[in-house]
Amino acid sequence: MKLSAAVLFFSILLQYCTSSGQPDSRAGFISIDCGIPENSTYQDLTSTILYVSDRGFVTSGENRNISAGYISPSLAQRYYTVRAFASGVRNCYTLPSLVAGNKYLVRAAFYYADYDGLSTPPVFDLYLGASLWHEVRFRDAAAINWMDVVAVAPTDFLQVCLVNKGTGTPFISGLDLRPLRSTLYPEANASQSLVMVNANRCNVGPTDKSVVRYPLDPHDRIWLAYGAVPAWTEASATSVVRNYLADPYDAPSAVMQSAATPSDGSVLSFSWDTSDDRSVDASSATYLLVLYFAELQRVSASGELRRQFDIAVDGTAWNREPYSPPYLFADSFSGTVQGQARHSVSLTATRNATLPPLLNAMEVYLVRPVDEAATDPGDAKAMIAIQEAYVVSKNWMGDPCAPKAFAWEGLDCTTDPPTGTPRITALNLSSSGLTGPITTYFGDLKALQYLDLSHNNLSGSIPDCLGQLPFLVFLDLSSNDLRGPVPYTLLQKSHNGTLSLRLSNNPNLSGNGSGPKKLNGAALLSAIIIPTVAATALSVTFIALLLRALKEQARRRAVDPTPRDETALLENREFSYRELKHITKNFSLEIGRGGFGAVFLGYLGNGNPVAVKIRSESSSQGGKEFLAEAQHLTRVHHKNLVSLIGYCKDKDHFALVYEYMPEGNLQDHLRLRDTCTHRPLTWQQRLQIALDAAQGLEYLHVACKPALIHRDVKSRNILLTTGLGAKIADFGLTKAFSDSETHITTEPAGTMGYLDPEYYRSYRASEKSDVYSFGVVLLELVTGQSPVVPVDDSVSVHVGEWVQQSLDRGGGVESVVDPSMGRCERGDYDVNSVWKVADLALRCRREASRERPTMTDVVAQIRESVELEAARRSSASGAAAAGGGGGLRSCAGERDAFEVVEGSVGETAGAAPGPAMI
Ligand SMILES: *[C@@H]1O[C@H](CO)[C@@H](O)[C@H](O)[C@H]1NC(C)=O
Ligand SMILES: *[C@@H]1O[C@H](CO)[C@@H](O)[C@H](O)[C@H]1NC(C)=O
Ligand SMILES: *[C@@H]1O[C@H](CO)[C@@H](O)[C@H](O)[C@H]1NC(C)=O
Ligand SMILES: *[C@@H]1O[C@H](CO)[C@@H](O)[C@H](O)[C@H]1NC(C)=O
Ligand SMILES: *[C@@H]1O[C@H](CO)[C@@H](O)[C@H](O)[C@H]1NC(C)=O
Ligand SMILES: *[C@@H]1O[C@H](CO)[C@@H](O)[C@H](O)[C@H]1NC(C)=O
Ligand SMILES: *[C@@H]1O[C@H](CO)[C@@H](O)[C@H](O)[C@H]1NC(C)=O
Repeated sequence: MKLSAAVLFFSILLQYCTSSGQPDSRAGFISIDCGIPENSTYQDLTSTILYVSDRGFVTSGENRNISAGYISPSLAQRYYTVRAFASGVRNCYTLPSLVAGNKYLVRAAFYYADYDGLSTPPVFDLYLGASLWHEVRFRDAAAINWMDVVAVAPTDFLQVCLVNKGTGTPFISGLDLRPLRSTLYPEANASQSLVMVNANRCNVGPTDKSVVRYPLDPHDRIWLAYGAVPAWTEASATSVVRNYLADPYDAPSAVMQSAATPSDGSVLSFSWDTSDDRSVDASSATYLLVLYFAELQRVSASGELRRQFDIAVDGTAWNREPYSPPYLFADSFSGTVQGQARHSVSLTATRNATLPPLLNAMEVYLVRPVDEAATDPGDAKAMIAIQEAYVVSKNWMGDPCAPKAFAWEGLDCTTDPPTGTPRITALNLSSSGLTGPITTYFGDLKALQYLDLSHNNLSGSIPDCLGQLPFLVFLDLSSNDLRGPVPYTLLQKSHNGTLSLRLSNNPNLSGNGSGPKKLNGAALLSAIIIPTVAATALSVTFIALLLRALKEQARRRAVDPTPRDETALLENREFSYRELKHITKNFSLEIGRGGFGAVFLGYLGNGNPVAVKIRSESSSQGGKEFLAEAQHLTRVHHKNLVSLIGYCKDKDHFALVYEYMPEGNLQDHLRLRDTCTHRPLTWQQRLQIALDAAQGLEYLHVACKPALIHRDVKSRNILLTTGLGAKIADFGLTKAFSDSETHITTEPAGTMGYLDPEYYRSYRASEKSDVYSFGVVLLELVTGQSPVVPVDDSVSVHVGEWVQQSLDRGGGVESVVDPSMGRCERGDYDVNSVWKVADLALRCRREASRERPTMTDVVAQIRESVELEAARRSSASGAAAAGGGGGLRSCAGERDAFEVVEGSVGETAGAAPGPAMI
């Protein structure tokens, strides 16, 4: 135990070298006064420490005041109030921003003081994380009880939990956390903690009621005076008692400067009894005893003044050679005792000694094995983040999996055999009232096998990270309000049978384009009398003709097989309803819903994914439109148009089979950025999408004879391929101009915000109606806004007007550009290129259709913008290469940034550098 002379020498030197410029030792302190008003703070008079309310550390319980009769002038302020937990078996405080693996002293303080008027103090259990800390019990209503634990944090947070045992309502007065160097209290490690009960940390010597804590003890341990013992005399020094640099216990000078010696004789002895701790089996419990010694008066090695004694604990000698404490240095002996309730210590002067033995301080801790393994830190962190994201209304407190008796409702945990660490393998949050997007923290539960989020109000898109969970075999997202595309990995896993995926009843979930939302009954059209055409006979003829044409085509293709590339997808064929049932696995995976009915994901025999649109009986659209779509698509093949693969007309069943577009629609890409699925599109990507879509439309207008008018061009009808190529979808409204003279259609159709005013005034659709709508899509690409832009809470304007006004005011194109395009490096686009597109978009939206460009003009203009942007990129990359890449920086996601901040906070809160830093 005693340090060698050489170490002592270096220690003294180092002590002097490092004593100046100490960092604020208060860094990392958490000091909570439970029960004071939310957000209030005050400075504690004795310690000068700032105490804060428990807001942010706990979410349950209620504030109470103690009874006035128990308040005395000397009572520390944190005992005036308590937080009481009348409901829930386990209620917990979370102490955040720690460093996993570092050591901490945590203190919980309790003063019942009849706060509830029942005059009966409760008995309850206190847990640190998953492990029992100690039972909390009171001698009487006026007893103050505080207990310390020295523990290694398994995670970057610690939870202190109060557990109701059915013997009264748990409550707490104060909670402190102090970081400790890892070299302090070496007996506390990952597998055992040190628990102090009965305030067994004594400053021996002073006979008053003095208390030493911060700032006298930089670690803010509370040292109570042992008090007057008739057989003892106080010895003291005014000089500072220093610590060795490698001191494992670091007793403060204020405590070490005083000591007790026997008044009479040569033996100082005392004993303590552990049997009053009824919650611990005293005969088997292990206690750590630390005895502190420092010589306080000048002695001579050879002279008359010599202090020398032997230390015996329970009759066993703790010293090998006669012991003399070092002069004005804190020294200590420590060891464990067990096997009996009463323990005794005696310090006996040797025969050669001329001075009696002395004792400066002592501590007694219960050694508590960390028997309950805490949940895997990654899993626990993710669960807490999930709980915070949704404010889950379950009694989710403390460690998610441990102890088993308190495992969180809705969780299944499995112990990982090699490590003994519980992992979360199932999470059922079905019907839990969850709202908002699916948090990506679900993706951090890496051992998850079952996830049920059905019957909630979850919105936004499905994050891709769910597809990355390696062990997920069951995922139920049905009956929510999810939108956007289903991540491809999930679809693949579902297809190859490794994942059972449930997505039904999410009306806005899209795989392939959903059908058009008609303007039926829209205010805009309410005054217009819509002529109806009784065309039942006509549609029957259409169907017969169409089916014959499709069969014909299929036969031709069968005779002359095309190579197995993308064109193979284009082959039209007839499916039976049974076949559709088979390829969609009995319509198990609904990926969208449109005017026609539901859209299901299926896989052809060759593994190609397809989107199957089923006409529902209740569909507002009739077989006429359904087949119109089929008819046009079979006639039209272009790389920028979504291909029809086949159709089904089987008794009453109508269905269309399209190629599957894994990236969903453009609108979702522009609007949904709340999850990891959607990165903001760059200007280069937007230009490519604009060019692709324009070429698709141009093909319809120019290459088809007669021209095909889409009539419902909008960002939702532009679908994206894996490489973010664009294809025009949804030809349900396209009608061939069989009668080139009238151009009059039977039903005006389209979507609010995109609709050509000339068209809805006259019912005369022309190619220029599509140009008008495409202008709106271009404005969406430039601004990232929806067609109707909210100006303030009550007023909205059309994006066209908004852009026009902003430009007229001289704001420049930067004032309307989608801010997410400049998120990484400011203005990551060629301004002229954006100007050109914005100008083109406004010309497309001219009131008079003859003033609008044709789609051929539009394609040419977009090409010029593509070239401008390409020129900028090549010069930018040249500059970056020449400049050594100094300007490059990556777009850190918000969560990444958050983690960096946490890390740096944790570091400053960490332990001071140990001796190895010399
Ligand atoms: C306490 O502070 C938080 C954060 O600043 C705030 O949201 C909350 O409303 C405050 N509570 C009270 C009672 O002032
Ligand atoms: C506690 O006492 C203070 C001051 O007397 C009072 O303002 C506060 O409302 C009381 N709090 C509770 C929870 O009773
Ligand atoms: C903790 O300390 C005890 C006693 O010194 C020792 O037996 C145990 O192996 C240590 N555990 C760890 C994880 O170091
Ligand atoms: C007592 O002191 C004498 C002389 O200083 C020494 O020889 C002897 O070993 C000492 N005895 C003990 C028990 O230390
Ligand atoms: C989730 O819990 C609900 C009832 O709360 C139950 O109906 C459902 O089957 C559970 N899900 C799984 C996957 O066990
Ligand atoms: C879901 O959210 C919508 C709008 O926020 C609300 O009207 C509806 O009641 C919610 N449904 C459920 C089941 O909570
Ligand atoms: C199923 O698909 C997933 C995702 O593509 C893949 O990781 C996994 O290996 C596949 N499993 C089997 C058995 O084919």
